[in-house]
Amino acid sequence: MLAKVYSATIAGIEAYPIEIEVDVTQGLPSFSIVGLPDQAVRESKDRVKPALKNSGFEFPVKRITVNLAPADLKKEGPSFDLPIAIGLLTATKLIKRDRLTDYFILGELSLDGSLRPVKGILPTVLKAKGLKKKGVILPEENAREAALIKGINIYPVGSLKRVIDFLEGRIEILPFSLEVKNLFKERAIYPVDFNEVAGQEHVKRALEVAVSGGHNALLLGPPGSGKTMLAKRLPTILPDITLPEALETTKIHSIVGLLNPKEAIVATRPFRSPHHTISDVALIGGGPFPKPGEISLSHNGVLFLDELAEFHQDVLEVLRQPLEDGIIHISRAKGSVSFPARFMLVGAMNPCPCGTLGQQT
Ligand SMILES: Nc1ncnc2c1ncn2[C@@H]1O[C@H](COP(=O)(O)OP(=O)(O)O)[C@@H](O)[C@H]1O
Ligand SMILES: [Mg+2]
Repeated sequence: MLAKVYSATIAGIEAYPIEIEVDVTQGLPSFSIVGLPDQAVRESKDRVKPALKNSGFEFPVKRITVNLAPADLKKEGPSFDLPIAIGLLTATKLIKRDRLTDYFILGELSLDGSLRPVKGILPTVLKAKGLKKKGVILPEENAREAALIKGINIYPVGSLKRVIDFLEGRIEILPFSLEVKNLFKERAIYPVDFNEVAGQEHVKRALEVAVSGGHNALLLGPPGSGKTMLAKRLPTILPDITLPEALETTKIHSIVGLLNPKEAIVATRPFRSPHHTISDVALIGGGPFPKPGEISLSHNGVLFLDELAEFHQDVLEVLRQPLEDGIIHISRAKGSVSFPARFMLVGAMNPCPCGTLGQQT
């Protein structure tokens, strides 16, 4: 019998709906997943099997085919574990199928049947809302991030067993909600502050001007003159990040898996300071499943290139276009994605290799 479960995958910074079709028929026992799965999706079957058994369900000794539709979109990550397990139980009539169409379901399964958090929750919940789904069933640790989106029910669950009980109507799960404004205020705290800088009035003035006018800045000075320290404190004098800006930046951090589940939102202006050995792909984004790079992670904040003169020239060259446009378009043979990248670029360097040029000895 055929079962359909609904979920989503991330491409760029958008989520795309995915239909997980599970077909279980008589025949030689096998388990195949089709629809451009990556390694993590393919390994799903090795997690789903023990998770089902350890949750008290029987794993069907039959011919199982899982199709992730649309088949031309690459799928990545372990978030399909839970929908595949639900699909299997539905296809083997162990659970009823009537409530499945109402929800987006996602989560990584542990072998004992408990759920682990996944990446890219914010865009997924937005998509579910856009498609007028009743709710999103997801791992407990992802609930805070999901609840940033209002107007859709978030059902946090801890284990496969609880999802089944919920879908069967045996238990009631209260939709999770939180006061976004309070969380945003609570988290808008910087660990450092610009007022800790002693003296250096002329540098502070220059940086204040740069920040007010939205200009980039280059700090040039001998080692120990406080370049790194000043740059780290720059986000604290930028205008406070607004909620829409914070959500935009959170979305990018969520996709890369940088978001702390307890924090749930990036409520301060990001400060990114990649090492000078960084590659161009890590800086501007890319890869087989294009991911945002450092310039997008510092969207609405500060990108600090310490020891600017040590960066490879070709890495610095790729910054030109995003610096002008505030967005980076990454084109690959299989399609193109765009990531927002509006940041303040701050560089720091010594005046010469030994760092003491012009100083009296
Ligand atoms: N104006 C200043 N006020 C407070 N601390 C300073 C100041 N200038 C330098 N420091 C301190 O000196 C140390 C070296 O500064 P750092 O920013 O690492 O220098 P640089 O990056 O220019 O080599 C840091 O511990 C920093 O806190
Ligand atoms: Mg330094």
